[in-house]
Amino acid sequence: MKICCIGAGYVGGPTMAMIAKNCVDSKVTVVDLNQERIDSWNSDDLPIYEPGLLEVVKAARGRNLFFSTEIDQTIQDSDIIFISVNTPTKDYGSGKGRAADLRFVESCARNIAKVGGGNKIVVEKSTVPVRTAQMVKEILGESNNGFSYQVLSNPEFLAEGTAIADLENPDRVLIGGDQSKEGLEAIEKVVSLYNQWIDRENIITTNLWSSELSKLTANAFLAQRISSINAISALCEATGADVDEVANAIGTDSRIGPKFLKSSVGFGGSCFQKDILNLSYLCQHFGLPEVAEYWDQVVRMNDYQKDRFVQRIMDAMFNTVSGKKIAILGFAFKKDTNDARESPAIAVCSRLLDERAHLAIYDPQVPKDTILSSLRLDANDKRVSFHDCATDAANGTHAIALLTEWDEFKKLNLKEIYAEMEKPAHFFDGRNLIDPIEVQNAGFRLHRIGKG
Ligand code: UDX
Ligand code: ADP
Repeated sequence: MKICCIGAGYVGGPTMAMIAKNCVDSKVTVVDLNQERIDSWNSDDLPIYEPGLLEVVKAARGRNLFFSTEIDQTIQDSDIIFISVNTPTKDYGSGKGRAADLRFVESCARNIAKVGGGNKIVVEKSTVPVRTAQMVKEILGESNNGFSYQVLSNPEFLAEGTAIADLENPDRVLIGGDQSKEGLEAIEKVVSLYNQWIDRENIITTNLWSSELSKLTANAFLAQRISSINAISALCEATGADVDEVANAIGTDSRIGPKFLKSSVGFGGSCFQKDILNLSYLCQHFGLPEVAEYWDQVVRMNDYQKDRFVQRIMDAMFNTVSGKKIAILGFAFKKDTNDARESPAIAVCSRLLDERAHLAIYDPQVPKDTILSSLRLDANDKRVSFHDCATDAANGTHAIALLTEWDEFKKLNLKEIYAEMEKPAHFFDGRNLIDPIEVQNAGFRLHRIGKG
């Protein structure tokens, strides 16, 4: 089979590399408008940082995995086309700040209709609102190019930082399509791809709308768990309970389960907030305001947690950080990724800057330019400095705010760091990552999420 994936981003790149690695009889070409990105995929300096990804790409690249900007030609030649372009929250017009912006998906559909080349299966990989496939179908159906198209939904559940393991051994693969004879045949074709390395019983097939909605629902449920434990973390701080102990106690109930109960400075990433806002917008659209409000609260609680973290910093530092220097350890939205989209670090740093703090920032993977643009700062802004290691960032600061749970932070030499800081020196652990006894023995005043 000849496979094309439109969009060489965080989802398209790793997913197609894994398909190419396991489906040696198929030719997989990932196309993108962005020449720089494609060049980077064709080098050893990949555009995204993801443990194990380079090995997978190298195993297949040039054999049956290709990265190209020849979009039209690749679409024409392919039997299956995955649409894996970005679907950000709309920042203009109706639905601004809530609805998904589908113009990139629509433009792909129009392009597929225009270039033709034969009957094709078109697979939505991007996370989209339920019934987006209807738009894709209508555009393709009215193309009058004489070819027929089957539209499927195959949402991606990989998490950044663990993408390779998630793709190699997913809990499940979900494929939705029309329940007509042609639709079911198309589903089986895509099933046969995944079935080359994933057991058939782990491949779930549904109708189109269930598949589209399941992706939004999965992300909403995961985010809801984090907001729930973060809500409890506030109560723990007020009462003397310990949020990790509570999480452990409830997580051993097999009906609740232990995962996604780690309280934190808040969830980030390109999916959770965007998908919940989108889910809530859909509920409003379908006349279900109570349901919309229910899910909105998950995002509100997340904003509250980020605010609360900054408030703790203010309270502990005698109600002012003006002119004080604070080390920011970690800017990525989670460890093992260079992605800072919607990272809680953005909200925390922005508020600290509003309070006139100076920030000394270190992240092992997020580039300086990304941090500057996330904070809407220009390169010579004197209020921020960038450092090559945590020790260097902390030097001369009044406080450390640990915002990403990078493994290397667990090995910090805290005594050495403390010695070079202004006193009293505070340590705000937004991830409950570091052994509290060690932090306090080093001399820090320690403040942790969910600890009284
Ligand atoms: C998520 C979904 O997990 C994935 O299935 C979907 O395909 C895309 O969205 P991702 O955003 O990459 O993946 O990372 P995830 O591991 O889910 O973490 C999201 C955020 O929640 C991070 O900021 C993380 O630090 C935070 N988090 C996660 C917590 O604060 N506590 C937890 O217990 C788990
Ligand atoms: P995700 O996290 O969903 O993978 P990314 O933003 O990382 O999203 O990647 C999406 C990619 O899709 C970008 O590299 C962008 O250039 C590409 N893209 C968007 N629209 C088109 C299009 N019409 N044709 C080809 N590539 C596109």
